[in-house]
Amino acid sequence: MLRSFLFVPSDSERKLVKGEGSGADVLLLDLEDAVAEERLPLARGLAREYLAAHPDRSRMQLWVRTNAPSTPKALADLAAITAGAPDGVLLPKVRSADELVRIDHCLSALEAREGLQPGSIRIMPIATETPAAVFNLGTFPGSTSRLWGMTWGAEDLSAAVGASTNLDEKGELDFTYRLARSICLLAAVAAEVEPIDTVFLNFRDLGGLHREAQAARRAGFTGKLAIHPNQIETINRAFTPAPEEIEYAKRVLEAFASGAGTVGLDGKMLDMPHLKQARRVLASAGLLRRSSGGNGEFN
Ligand code: COA
Ligand code: MG
Repeated sequence: MLRSFLFVPSDSERKLVKGEGSGADVLLLDLEDAVAEERLPLARGLAREYLAAHPDRSRMQLWVRTNAPSTPKALADLAAITAGAPDGVLLPKVRSADELVRIDHCLSALEAREGLQPGSIRIMPIATETPAAVFNLGTFPGSTSRLWGMTWGAEDLSAAVGASTNLDEKGELDFTYRLARSICLLAAVAAEVEPIDTVFLNFRDLGGLHREAQAARRAGFTGKLAIHPNQIETINRAFTPAPEEIEYAKRVLEAFASGAGTVGLDGKMLDMPHLKQARRVLASAGLLRRSSGGNGEFN
């Protein structure tokens, strides 16, 4: 399970080194918003070198955030970094499924050029950074078999909308951005890919991060983006099921082992949605494969 995704500005050798010890499940080597235009060639070179120097991805995956697919920079980013065999690419400011298909084709050509396994580089769009994307999210399922997850963002969306802020008078995200979050969650689930929550910007406020991460997990998100190494432990904890949740989920599966469609447990009626939820908990603990069928078995 990939729970935490740490953005690292790719033009900073210091942060690339620091990211390595962060405990994040994924480093997102950033070529977009965290890198000034004139430093992009340097950042591409450093990202490629970093990828090539870290071929073992068993502990930490390495993804790259490219520039927006609608810009010529995106293809130059991909051409520069594919030789390093990134595990995935995070695509910002996506507008439509067509853009995902085009990136899929480009990656196929680049994988062939570099002798990489076809389809090995996964795709995750930041799926709510343009108003157009919010209307097109339902078309993402099935657009490419590379689609691994979907995440959302409130900062670029408010800039695109022309809003002076994305917050309401209480300091909470305004309705437009909460709507984008919910639609992203539903679209990811509809596409049978991972819904990943967006960044928490106030990186000194770990209590606030904890509350936001817990709320995201309760809502159904399976991981969260991060901007600072000190956010990783909190995120990993929030998206790892607690021992009592795992025990309860095992009991639910056992209760359904006979093949019944509905059962009683601790005086409560359980039916298929409860079984599904228990299977999700065990899958997120790495105890059950997501796709495995049957009612009762787990490893
Ligand atoms: N990845 C790796 N290392 C990071 C890091 C990150 N995202 N953010 C901070 N660090 C390092 C710092 O370099 C510093 O290391 P040092 O002690 O060796 O100098 C250490 O962690 C402590 O950093 P701190 O002083 O608390 O923060 P800062 O003021 O240096 O940096 C930010 C604050 C926001 C600029 C920085 O966290 C950052 O670059 N975040 C990522 C931004 C990004 O990628 N945005 C795009 C997505 S929204
Ligand atoms: Mg951005």
